[in-house]
Amino acid sequence: MPVDAAALRRRCAEEMDAAPRGFGNAAWLRDAFLTVPREHFAPARVWWPSPREDGLHSLIDQAERPNAWLEAVYSTGAPLITQMDDGRVQPTGPAKGYFSSSISSSGVIIELLRHLAPRPGERVLELGTGTGYTTALLATRTGPGTAVSIEVDPAIAAQARRNLDGLGLDPLVITGDGEQGHQAAGPYDRIVAIASVRRIPRAWLEQLRPGGVLLAPLDSPFGCDLLVRLTGAAAQPPGGTSWRRSSSCASAARARPVPTRSWDGPRPPALSAGRSFRSRQGFVASRSLTPPRRDPPRGEPERRAPPHNVQAPVRPRR
Ligand SMILES: C[S@@+](CC[C@H](N)C(=O)[O-])C[C@H]1O[C@@H](n2cnc3c(N)ncnc32)[C@H](O)[C@@H]1O
Repeated sequence: MPVDAAALRRRCAEEMDAAPRGFGNAAWLRDAFLTVPREHFAPARVWWPSPREDGLHSLIDQAERPNAWLEAVYSTGAPLITQMDDGRVQPTGPAKGYFSSSISSSGVIIELLRHLAPRPGERVLELGTGTGYTTALLATRTGPGTAVSIEVDPAIAAQARRNLDGLGLDPLVITGDGEQGHQAAGPYDRIVAIASVRRIPRAWLEQLRPGGVLLAPLDSPFGCDLLVRLTGAAAQPPGGTSWRRSSSCASAARARPVPTRSWDGPRPPALSAGRSFRSRQGFVASRSLTPPRRDPPRGEPERRAPPHNVQAPVRPRR
């Protein structure tokens, strides 16, 4: 029997009502989630994030297995891999490679946007457009013409523009290095990074409006991810921007205690060998915001996947 996208979306929303890191009191987020058709953004061929026994990631082709594809799209705990090895691996069959782009899992996006808490009319900057799905959720909340999103991969940015075209949201999708932000359209009331950073690029702080909120998954040198929420200082000090950390460790710090004192020590390198970068300084990799349940569901989602937040890693250009 064909699976109905709207019914799956509602089922997903119900899961996220019950999830500890779901919608919470953010009714606007639930509304946006129910409004934006996630299936419109997912490519017809995607890889499942958990490898099979042979180490390959199975390809889910909408044309061949429409129900499995739609179930995968609406699996709250799994990102779907939309690009491997910067596009050098063709989506023609099971494959392995580094995950260079994905449509983020609903669970991760919902948690990020709940913490970001954008309001109607606010200007928002997103770093790491991917398919444009998160951009659409954001712009559904903030309104037409308010969202700016930056994607480093030109082909992915172009596809995101096509995905977003005609939805009446009118976001600006820029091809470029998110680390630089986009000053021309700033300052922003909300800035959100979809990929983790090891340090917050200065450009983001400079482009954040006083009182604005910056949210970024922070990759710590302690193997523990934090979700950091910074609030721009209410008044700019002479000669520069300042900010205060309004909250952090939103979820990830529960995995292990964070030796916060060490943050006062030597600055961790912005780049770490063997980790994943697409830009020279800030971006590291998209990583799980919820280490206690880091692995995506094994096996494809004909069997329901439990809701948990896993983000596909983004790796460097070669
Ligand atoms: C996890 S995906 C974003 C998925 C998006 N939230 C969605 O649901 O479709 C992260 C994206 O960040 C992009 N990216 C990585 N480094 C970047 C950088 N320095 N500047 C801009 N985008 C970057 C990757 O190409 C990838 O498409």
